[in-house]
Amino acid sequence: NEGALWGARFASGPSPELAELSRSTHFDWDLALYDIRGSHAHAEALAAAGYLDADQAARMHAGLDAVASTVADGTLRPGPGDEDVHGALEQALIAAVGPELGGRLRAGRSRNDQIATLVRLYLLDHAAVIARDLLRLIDALVAQSEAHPDAVMPGRTHLQHAQPILLAHHLQAHAWPLVRDLERLRDWRERARVSPYGGGALAGSSLGLDPELVARELGLSRPSENSLDGTAARDVVAEFAFVCAQIGIDLSRLSEEIILWNTREFGFVTLDDGYSTGSSIMPQKKNPDIAELARGKSGRLVGNLTGLLTMLKGLPLAYNRDLQEDKEPIFDSVRTLEVLLPAFTGMVATLRFDTARMAELAPQGFSLATDVADWLVRQGVPFREAHEVSGALVRACEQRGIGLEDASDELLAQVSSHLTPEVRAVLTVAGSVASRAGAGGTAPERVAEQRSELIARAQDA
Ligand code: ARG
Repeated sequence: NEGALWGARFASGPSPELAELSRSTHFDWDLALYDIRGSHAHAEALAAAGYLDADQAARMHAGLDAVASTVADGTLRPGPGDEDVHGALEQALIAAVGPELGGRLRAGRSRNDQIATLVRLYLLDHAAVIARDLLRLIDALVAQSEAHPDAVMPGRTHLQHAQPILLAHHLQAHAWPLVRDLERLRDWRERARVSPYGGGALAGSSLGLDPELVARELGLSRPSENSLDGTAARDVVAEFAFVCAQIGIDLSRLSEEIILWNTREFGFVTLDDGYSTGSSIMPQKKNPDIAELARGKSGRLVGNLTGLLTMLKGLPLAYNRDLQEDKEPIFDSVRTLEVLLPAFTGMVATLRFDTARMAELAPQGFSLATDVADWLVRQGVPFREAHEVSGALVRACEQRGIGLEDASDELLAQVSSHLTPEVRAVLTVAGSVASRAGAGGTAPERVAEQRSELIARAQDA
């Protein structure tokens, strides 16, 4: 195969079975334009070191541009004889500028330092897309919380009614993990903006090429410190897969709540018609498929991370072909989020909340019992005793089938002499919520402050 990047020391070409196994063009073609960017930068380094004169360098860049436009418009496609994107593009370059010049580009580089660089360039671009989409989702959550500044709902622990909270507080609690995901992407970016180019196959270059120049041309901050590490490390890929998986988990946890809220039993939300689906048999159905797909796809994102880490475990230095197996999972994680996030954001932005229903349920399940205990503490009762008194009141009300707010003066006095009628002041949801004004609490003014902080942190990341 005259297009192959190797072969002179082999008496025969690869068997068809090997060629089939080895071929990666069906997925690494997504890196073609990054490969060409790398080639432009490498050509600069060759020219700076005197391996290409000014005329050759200009023809090389023009040839690479010509190849890039055939990649971009889809007229250049890898052929069945191409092992990978690198070989296919070298063939195309040679067709464009001739073998004498085209054959010079590969000096001082290897597919090993190339691929390690390209995957970083690819991920840096897609990290920006994912970050933008995440920010839109955060905005949608913030907008919903701004639209419902006073709405209350039952706050739960163990999925049981615990204490009343603001809906805005709950929605913002789902936004904070996404803000941290944005911050994770930002932190990851610093580690990713390093260029393995110049590491060659593993040991570095002997041609006096300037890796700083290549890094600069590629918009990266510096070359890898160690050529073995640069070509063999994939923690930058695994870390990106982790951030994708974490985003998936964060969406999945919110999804689970939306799915519950959307049941007849909860009745907290209605999904917009444009963001829910029907049933092929039951005409009345309106299903929360976006939330379910998000929950399901989180498994796939975790799987991609697990697959990557398992592939890396036990790999000796430096490059091993196993590393080629990083591409499909990470591309899949990227595509999964790029499709999922916009749909998810649309669903969140168009959710309609039944705030009357939520307010009705907020005080149920004796969720104001802690307020009774806290009120007793403010009257000077030790908390241990206050907890017992409040618990006894819950039991007494439960036995009578009434709510805490319905307890008569006699019943209050019977449970404890500390329970004077003034306790009723805290037996309202609004009073309970307003009283939780400590840092990070659910009081309306704290939640509003928190929202400004959240917006600032998201914009900062
Ligand atoms: N396609 C490989 C990868 O994705 C890069 C090529 C390195 N091949 C080699 N025989 N050293 O990692």
